[in-house]
Amino acid sequence: MENIATTPKDEQRLAKFEEWVQSGEAIEPRDWMPEAYRKHLIRQISQHAHSEVIGMQPEGNWVTRAPSLRAKQILLAKIQDEGGHGLYLYSAAETLGITRDEMIEQLHAGKAKYSNIFNYPTLNWADIGAIGWLVDGAAIVNQVSLQRTSFAPYSRAMVRICKEESFHQRQGYEIMAKMMAGTEAQREMAQDAMNRWWWPSLMMFGPHDGDSPHSADAFRWKIKRQTNDELRQKFIDKTVPQAELIGLTVPDPDMKWNEEKQSYDHGRINWEEFYRVINGHGPCNKQRMDHHKKVHADGAWVREAAEAYRAKMK
Ligand code: 3HC
Repeated sequence: MENIATTPKDEQRLAKFEEWVQSGEAIEPRDWMPEAYRKHLIRQISQHAHSEVIGMQPEGNWVTRAPSLRAKQILLAKIQDEGGHGLYLYSAAETLGITRDEMIEQLHAGKAKYSNIFNYPTLNWADIGAIGWLVDGAAIVNQVSLQRTSFAPYSRAMVRICKEESFHQRQGYEIMAKMMAGTEAQREMAQDAMNRWWWPSLMMFGPHDGDSPHSADAFRWKIKRQTNDELRQKFIDKTVPQAELIGLTVPDPDMKWNEEKQSYDHGRINWEEFYRVINGHGPCNKQRMDHHKKVHADGAWVREAAEAYRAKMK
């Protein structure tokens, strides 16, 4: 990263900041921090928050069509959790000096991303199982690591979110296990969902380490504690046995256990698809953004009413 200090005083403060972070200490919003650190965090945390909220759309699609009251209750609880995760993360980002409105404007203007994974359609109930098991499973691997991130409000949000995420992963796996123990049609449905969600879930961890422009700074400032590839491998090694246990086939002919590495080798990820999707050209990008813009506009009266009430109570 280019030298960001401009005056001797800045040099001293930067040296102190780097020493503090390298010693594993947490940074609170009131602490001095380099502008590049603040901007890096705003980018990552706001995109994380957008992902949580946009992720409610594909799942919300199945609330009215859940196969039982119990399944509906579980799905409603999960979606409500995701909305709460978004709120924790927007609040953590706001401590860095950006407003909620600014973050939403960046999202709507295409200047901020959200996770690739939420740009795929949920075609049937097995997709809800695959999302809980694979997507939340991948999110847990990433978020457990982020519990040790150097920015304290982000770390605290991760601790809280991880507690709820593990319930999401288990409810998804339960759906897949039930379907794999069901009729031939249900087994085919579950395998089809596995085939469609497996590779985009691997992409959730971001590009390979050598192609990740932000990772160098993320490690220098201990925002990230493990690399994209390390976390992806951790997810694969944990998830493949779970798939095999219930009779699902991982849709990767190159997936095989490497005795020497004590982990799985896997096939090439389709990075062309990854960059196509994160640059706005996935199956559901337009649908997701149109819906978010509509609902944000429809909800303006709630925000205005809350503002008016706050002004009145001052
Ligand atoms: N989806 C969309 N964009 C992605 C991406 C993904 N899966 N992975 C990487 N990118 C983008 C980055 O944002 C960056 O673009 P930008 O400069 O416009 O921000 C570019 O690709 C280069 O990637 P890098 O690896 O250099 O970027 P990072 O160092 O930020 O690493 C990350 C990417 C690993 C996703 C990191 O940002 C991160 O850990 N974020 C927090 C976790 C997160 O956002 N999870 C989203 C899922 S939330 C979820 O699943 C909810 C669950 O409850 C259902």
